[in-house]
Amino acid sequence: MKPKFYVTTPIYYVNGAPHIGHAYTSIAADVLARFKRLDGYDVFFLTGTDEHGQKVEKAAAEAGLDPQAFVDKVSADFRDMAAKMGLSNDDFIRTTEERHKRVCAELWRRLEQRGEIYLGAYEGWYAVRDEAFYDEDELTARPDGTRVAPSGAPVEWVREPSYFFRLSQWQDRLLAHYEAHPEFIAPNSRRNEVLSFVRGGLRDLSVSRTSFRWGIPVPGDPAHVMYVWLDALTNYLTATGWPDEHAPRAAFWPADVHLIGKDILRFHAIYWPAFLMAAGVAPPKRVSSNGWWTVEGEKMSKSLGNVIEPRALVATYGLDQVRYFFMREKPFGADGSMSHAALVSRINVELANDLGNLAQRTLAQIARNCDARLPARAGPTAEDAALLDAAAALPALMRERMERQTFHEGLEEVWKVIRAANGYIDRQAPWALRKTDPARMAAVLRVLADALRSIATVLQPFMPDSMAKMLDQLGVPAEARSLAALAVPLPDGVALPPPVGVFPRYVEPAA
Ligand code: MSP
Repeated sequence: MKPKFYVTTPIYYVNGAPHIGHAYTSIAADVLARFKRLDGYDVFFLTGTDEHGQKVEKAAAEAGLDPQAFVDKVSADFRDMAAKMGLSNDDFIRTTEERHKRVCAELWRRLEQRGEIYLGAYEGWYAVRDEAFYDEDELTARPDGTRVAPSGAPVEWVREPSYFFRLSQWQDRLLAHYEAHPEFIAPNSRRNEVLSFVRGGLRDLSVSRTSFRWGIPVPGDPAHVMYVWLDALTNYLTATGWPDEHAPRAAFWPADVHLIGKDILRFHAIYWPAFLMAAGVAPPKRVSSNGWWTVEGEKMSKSLGNVIEPRALVATYGLDQVRYFFMREKPFGADGSMSHAALVSRINVELANDLGNLAQRTLAQIARNCDARLPARAGPTAEDAALLDAAAALPALMRERMERQTFHEGLEEVWKVIRAANGYIDRQAPWALRKTDPARMAAVLRVLADALRSIATVLQPFMPDSMAKMLDQLGVPAEARSLAALAVPLPDGVALPPPVGVFPRYVEPAA
């Protein structure tokens, strides 16, 4: 039986249109899911939409629509975005689905039965934009007298009956969990933030609201709707068919990794494992948080009018180009800037030049000088062996980087081999060997084709369409594109299709 791997994206609020922040985490999750499939895992990749809560209710009212009609529309737009980003998700969950409401109610009942939930009254600050409660000492006063959350979101004073989750009782057990599972929170800098937050003490958490209706009713007390984060986090469990142990996807729990943005780490690394442990359910294995993108160095915001629509980006630069840029430009956990100049440079230098030209030069010479057949493998020289060994090491290097979500480092490893291959082709100069030593020319081209095959194989998760084209041109059959298949050399003499360029240069449109 194949080992299992379960990866998730955050479920996105349907209060507005998708932007690159949403596309980014989704693409990272897709790269991971595709890589694991390529590495022989049975993968479950989940994404979806977060549709309840005050923020969404408000957005629906502003749009003049009934909340359900509104969320149907916006959720469909997110689904379209997922498809346009090339996501290979196995399910798309919506929190307004019946299957999800049932699971939330069941989780609630278990928490209640175990004495983890009690009725009280909440009085304090709430930020609708973050759907989060804040302590007084977390807020900053602005010159106009209003207060804002650390995220900059305005807060309002809330006073209402509320159920509470006994989060305060979980401090020690959470700390013990972080201690026993150092890989639980990534990156490490964020782990330290969570640790110090939890060490500072936890208060019981308000987990229901009575001042609006757009949520999942609390079982047995329908005057309350569940706090949207309890509802939202539970999506990861819903999709596995929990609590049915015989559900087809039951064995995927606990999730291997939740990929999320740094702003929602507290919910995933503190509340979520506490809810689960309190209900007697295993917590996820890892929560890996990514940094934020700015645009041309500025924070993305509606008021600045610089919000980038991911589908527009793809229309301008190409899907694989955008996916590559996202994964290459900055470390996953760090913030980074998206700029036109940086995109064009990555596309023209690394894709068109380094990789595209390497493939084109190799394949064109095979087409022209080797009768369009894959040359036979020959006894390698020391230089041949150096390149072939470097290429053969890529799967293991990439596997390790994927485990840690250091996507940019994985790509850097691949580009080291691409640059080595470009050095090799220049030094070996197969075009000059055509007359003097055709056997050696063929051997050199075969070394290059084999190196390219390894390169294209490990790059498939990042750029599925382009690498499929490259593997077609290298004569690699569909069933020989996994990491394991790299151990078996391609047969000598396979006929190759005429080469066509995979990565066009980006040319500025005429003004
Ligand atoms: N609905 C919650 C998540 C619930 S998960 C159980 C939510 N949704 S969101 O739509 O507001 O945000 C989703 C993700 O987008 C977050 O991980 C957030 O970090 C990310 N981003 C929002 N703006 C971003 C950037 N400018 N750059 C990168 N990611 C950003 O939070």
